[in-house]
Amino acid sequence: MTANELREKFLKFFEEREHKILPSSSLIPENDPTVLFTTAGMHSLIPFLLGEKHPAGSRLCKIQECLRTDDIEKVGDIAHLTFFEMLGNWSLGDYFKKEAIEWSYEFLTAKDWLNLDKDKLAITCFGNDKQFSRDEESAQIWENLGIAKNRIAFLGKKDNWWGPINDAGPCGPDTEIFYWVGESKAPEVFDPQNNNWVEIWNNVFMTYNKTKEGNFELLQQKNVDTGMGLERTLAVINHLPSVFETELFLPLIKQLELISKKKYENYPREFRIIADHLKAAIFLLSEKLEPSNVERGYVLRRLIRRAVRFGRLLEIKEIFSFKMLAPVIEIYGNVYPLIKENKDFIEEQLVKEEEKFSKTLLKGMNILEKIVENQKSFSGKQAFDLYQSYGFPLELIKEIIKEKDIRFDEKEFEEEFKKHQELSRTASSGMFKGGLTTHSEKAIKYHTATHLLHRALRDVLGEEVEQRGSNINEERLRFDYSCSKKPTAEQLKKIEEIVNEKIQENLSVIKKEMSLKEAKELGAIGLFEDKYGERVSVYFIGGEENNLKTAYSKEICGGPHVINTNVLGYFKIIKEEAVSSGVRRIKAILE
Ligand code: GLY
Repeated sequence: MTANELREKFLKFFEEREHKILPSSSLIPENDPTVLFTTAGMHSLIPFLLGEKHPAGSRLCKIQECLRTDDIEKVGDIAHLTFFEMLGNWSLGDYFKKEAIEWSYEFLTAKDWLNLDKDKLAITCFGNDKQFSRDEESAQIWENLGIAKNRIAFLGKKDNWWGPINDAGPCGPDTEIFYWVGESKAPEVFDPQNNNWVEIWNNVFMTYNKTKEGNFELLQQKNVDTGMGLERTLAVINHLPSVFETELFLPLIKQLELISKKKYENYPREFRIIADHLKAAIFLLSEKLEPSNVERGYVLRRLIRRAVRFGRLLEIKEIFSFKMLAPVIEIYGNVYPLIKENKDFIEEQLVKEEEKFSKTLLKGMNILEKIVENQKSFSGKQAFDLYQSYGFPLELIKEIIKEKDIRFDEKEFEEEFKKHQELSRTASSGMFKGGLTTHSEKAIKYHTATHLLHRALRDVLGEEVEQRGSNINEERLRFDYSCSKKPTAEQLKKIEEIVNEKIQENLSVIKKEMSLKEAKELGAIGLFEDKYGERVSVYFIGGEENNLKTAYSKEICGGPHVINTNVLGYFKIIKEEAVSSGVRRIKAILE
């Protein structure tokens, strides 16, 4: 069966049972900044699960593109993915457990539909917890359909309760359907821990609304929310060993064999991770998301970079991620047209991000290799320095160390990390007279951004620019500076660009104590110089520990500052105006 046949069969089955077909919502939820991505078909249906009337009625179905990163560590096995399609049907206060369960069973096992082997099915139902009782009703419905008692397991909230997707919202107990994919005969007794039992479909009985305070209120209607994994189901129907052998991955795997000149069967984990992550990244890019250091953009960046690193492990030396676009278009071009429409943008972004990351990787890897060459263990402090000085992604440090089988004290790393944050938070010795009013994380970010802005102003308008005042709050930074002429729009744009470039370069922020004389010799910008004592602290942005002279920004300052510019986000000037003769003011925000 092809993916298209499966999509069509599913929709047809529920259409025959009076469901209206909805289009897939976008991967990036519209009008909902509180969640990063669409992780299930029900996102766009939340108001209707809570009781609002849906214009299409009370029975709905659709195929939804989803992105989940909570299981990213598991990608590489036979079933886990970050991007996947979910087939779902919904009852909004219409049918409930009996119909939902019976229909899932019929769709999976009836000859005219998927014709799966009944003897390979197993079921989990919600077991009791302190507040809610065991879902005997669902178990009984399954038994009536012929599922043996010892193929039904009762599990707790962690496994058999779904939602809410955020802190609050609709949720409820669920019953999950597993299929045996092992080569041997399916065991009589179902053991949910055995990985040969793969979950293919989840039926959620959404009956509660979890409030912000953590209480569960009964919803005014009983809903059904289901999700069946397209890739997994396709693999089991076609008796394939994993989702990666389905037509939804094979062209990617083949392309990767060509690029790497290696065989998938010898490196299944690496191939799967690269194929999964780049497919997910391409879908996100198709919605015009760009890699960045915050939130959605950060997830995208992490997906691309992790894929690239696994590519390097396969000894792919050239820039290759963009070459995975053609097979993704081949697989999905007709179903998700945005991939085709935005193909130039996707390609451009992949190349840019891979080039950028290759540089960081090279630098960080050389140093890491040198450190581990003669050591059997890697201290938390060393890991931290690597992170701080090279912006080397944390999770990569951990992964590489694990691969090299080197002892690593993660706790020490965490402590080092905390200590440094503490240090930089409490480091305000009062020398930063510009008016840092609060030490919230946001304000600290604005403080570091102010240093970058100060430097960039001098780059563009000349060294005669001097700080005249600075004020930071949670919402914005304000910077007053001396300048005889109003800067042009182009100049302001240039300044903004420079600051953002520096943020993107993952520059480390290093603090050093030294004499005022030394600070001046290093070219540090000093304000209110007569107020400084003999010893000062200087913040360097972008320098290397042993060559601070080359740092981009050098400024005498009491802190606190962030550890690396990569947490700042996007810098934007929102206002430029005159405050008095020869003094001008910039207001800027970090997004
Ligand atoms: N919303 C049901 C599921 O994702 O499993």
